[in-house]
Amino acid sequence: MSILVTGGAGFIGANFVLDWLAQHDERVINLDKLTYAGNRQNLAGLADDPRYIFIRGDIGDRDVVDSLLKIYQPRCVVHFAAESHVDRSILNPGEFIQTNVVGTFNLLDSVRLYLDCADSAVRTGFRFIHVSTDEVYGTLDAGAPAFRETDNYLPNSPYSASKAASDLLVRAYCHTYGLPAITTHCSNNYGPYHFPEKLIPLVIHQALAGNPLPVYGDGRQIRDWLYVKDHCAAIRCVLASGRVGETYNIGGWNEHSNIDVITKICFLLDTLRPRADGKPYAGQIRFIKDRPGHDRRYAIDATKIEAEVGWRPAETFETGIRKTVQWYLDHQDWVGNVVNGAYTRWVEKQYL
Ligand code: NAD
Ligand code: DAU
Repeated sequence: MSILVTGGAGFIGANFVLDWLAQHDERVINLDKLTYAGNRQNLAGLADDPRYIFIRGDIGDRDVVDSLLKIYQPRCVVHFAAESHVDRSILNPGEFIQTNVVGTFNLLDSVRLYLDCADSAVRTGFRFIHVSTDEVYGTLDAGAPAFRETDNYLPNSPYSASKAASDLLVRAYCHTYGLPAITTHCSNNYGPYHFPEKLIPLVIHQALAGNPLPVYGDGRQIRDWLYVKDHCAAIRCVLASGRVGETYNIGGWNEHSNIDVITKICFLLDTLRPRADGKPYAGQIRFIKDRPGHDRRYAIDATKIEAEVGWRPAETFETGIRKTVQWYLDHQDWVGNVVNGAYTRWVEKQYL
């Protein structure tokens, strides 16, 4: 048997593939376009592993997806592939519609036809796990109850709107064609292999480089932080025992303001890699203009997944952020390889 993972060379997908093969012998087919966010180096340790097959391709390419399904006959799809960065969606929304909406549609339709032709054993056991986000629910006021699966969709950015659209396509394929799909909504992940355009790895990288640490607006926006390996475990649990047609919120029970997260990273670096001049990294913090349409607060109520599937995060923010900072200190070669010319051009465009 095999599983088909899309976007497995990205941040969460790579962690998922590595964790999967550390625990299963079931083959992984990884379909990834290798955009700026995809990095085969994340999975370099699997290069000679017969359980791992990498296919460079676009989820929007019907021929590629049809032939992969036909050749490998996977028992499930775990769909991570997406354009994932909110700031990029504000500058260039078209790619988000193409991959997140049209690409997901293509994948769903290909799976529909694959299942139509499959034998009943494959059809019965098949699962399509759609990895979505908490951002589809919009933004919360301070003190409002955390997002629940029954909340309305109120996406505010081109990114979250494109994810919301893809969620609705998944729902429609499940309802109309009986495609056995489950959608998950997770909060902000952090951990190894996180591309340094997102807040936590950006701050670690810029702090070590001696650069300003950019805080949007007043820095009091709140996110729920989920250690990526906890997220991977949650997806494995949902795949094993989630109910078809259901949606599950996945969160870390870790709400923190951005300024507190940045300050925490600075304190950790002060201990683990003190600046040469002995001054605190927090001195590099700079408040800059806010993100347009910036959502104020996300919070996840993850009681349903705990009650139904038995998953709960293992890491607290304290343990997870310490591991993360240490991982970046230990993998400066990885950071050096991803911070190429295109990355520098992005930072200049976004922050200067
Ligand atoms: P990422 O940007 O790090 O990686 C995305 C991967 O998808 C890359 O490897 C990229 O090459 C690949 N990809 C992009 N377009 C493709 C296409 N058309 N065809 C095939 N592959 C393509 O993203 P991530 O942070 O790992 O997020 C993975 C999924 O989880 C996304 O669907 C995202 O919306 C969702 N999500 C992420 C977070 C988070 O905090 N990172 C939180 C909630 C939900
Ligand atoms: O909530 C889940 C979402 O989390 C995922 O669906 C997205 O794919 C993922 O990118 C993430 O979105 P955010 O916009 O919350 O993540 P980001 O790391 O870009 O920003 C986190 C917070 O930090 C947000 O409030 C904006 C702020 N920020 C971000 C950057 C890059 C800054 O203050 N300065 C920055 O330079």
